Amino acid sequence: SENEIPAEIKLNEEVSKIYTNNLLNFPDYHPIWQYLKKRDINRNVAEEFELGYALGSEVNKVIEEHYFEKDIAIKAGLIVNDKDFFYNRLIIPIRNNSGLLVGFSGRLVIDSSNAPKYLNTPENQYFKKSKILYMYYKTKRFIKENDFAIIVEGYFDLISMYKLGFKNIVAILGSSFTKDQAVDLLKSTNKIVTMFDMDDAGKKATISTIDTLYKTDFQIAVSKYPAKDPDELTKKHDKQYIAEILKNSYKFHEFVVDYYAEKYELTNDFALEQYLKDMSKWYTKLEKAGRLSYIESFVECISKKIGKDKQYVKKILEANRS
Ligand code: CTP
Ligand code: MN
Ligand code: MN
Ligand code: MN
Ligand code: MN
Repeated sequence: SENEIPAEIKLNEEVSKIYTNNLLNFPDYHPIWQYLKKRDINRNVAEEFELGYALGSEVNKVIEEHYFEKDIAIKAGLIVNDKDFFYNRLIIPIRNNSGLLVGFSGRLVIDSSNAPKYLNTPENQYFKKSKILYMYYKTKRFIKENDFAIIVEGYFDLISMYKLGFKNIVAILGSSFTKDQAVDLLKSTNKIVTMFDMDDAGKKATISTIDTLYKTDFQIAVSKYPAKDPDELTKKHDKQYIAEILKNSYKFHEFVVDYYAEKYELTNDFALEQYLKDMSKWYTKLEKAGRLSYIESFVECISKKIGKDKQYVKKILEANRS
């Protein structure tokens, strides 16, 4: 029937069982557990997030034992070039927003080769990264309860924050927040606080998320914090401190003003001119999107940033209107 679970998903579930057993069967002194211990992940947390370990000899055994067609394993991305796609990696299962196990991410842990840090299931009919919010299927009830969602980049950011009690959270799996993800999240709340990494990539992802969402019903806040990423933040600070960080997050237009100011290092007239051109673009965008309630405050932020009066700033922004 139409409601039947696809064979690829069933296979993922069977293979995931082997991955999780592998991990749980390793003794505490095994390098993987030493690694997880350093990251503050114990056996209970590993079970809760269904973490596993791929040795690379699992998939063929599972398809023989459970009579799956090899073709299904290929379609699921578990077999590539006749070999297990995942080997010698810590496995993070990825469920879609309805809870179906659609793919995996594998993190390099022991191997120090120059292979990528994370390897994801190749995109297929069911595994579409741009549509999935990691753990949303489980956290949507907390997001509704709190009427806001924390958005982070990575798996470990989410796991660490969740452990501390910030359960109204999703992760975007790197890159930036997409329209499809927004549509799904909007069913639970229209308030988000981004907590992307504090590096250049994270700031770019923040700007691009704002660019995707400023026209929508979302109220977007951006947090800034003294650590590389939320995972590291939870290792340095306690729950109260992080709650305070979230409470003091910036409105999105304040972030826009700061982001470009940092980019241009406003030390000369030429830089200032370029800066104001970019600010005009955002001014126009807010105007066109009818976000008039933000415009006054946007102009005020710029005026403070460059130390010129509001009327002057407004005149320049409007003169440069695109
Ligand atoms: N990512 C990915 N592929 C990569 C690198 C990153 O899919 N090669 C995704 C993962 O979902 C990852 C997220 O982007 O969790 C954020 O990337 P990054 O900040 O580089 O990694 P961390 O999550 O901080 O990973 P870790 O703490 O394990 O180093
Ligand atoms: Mn079985
Ligand atoms: Mn990052
Ligand atoms: Mn990170
Ligand atoms: Mn990290």
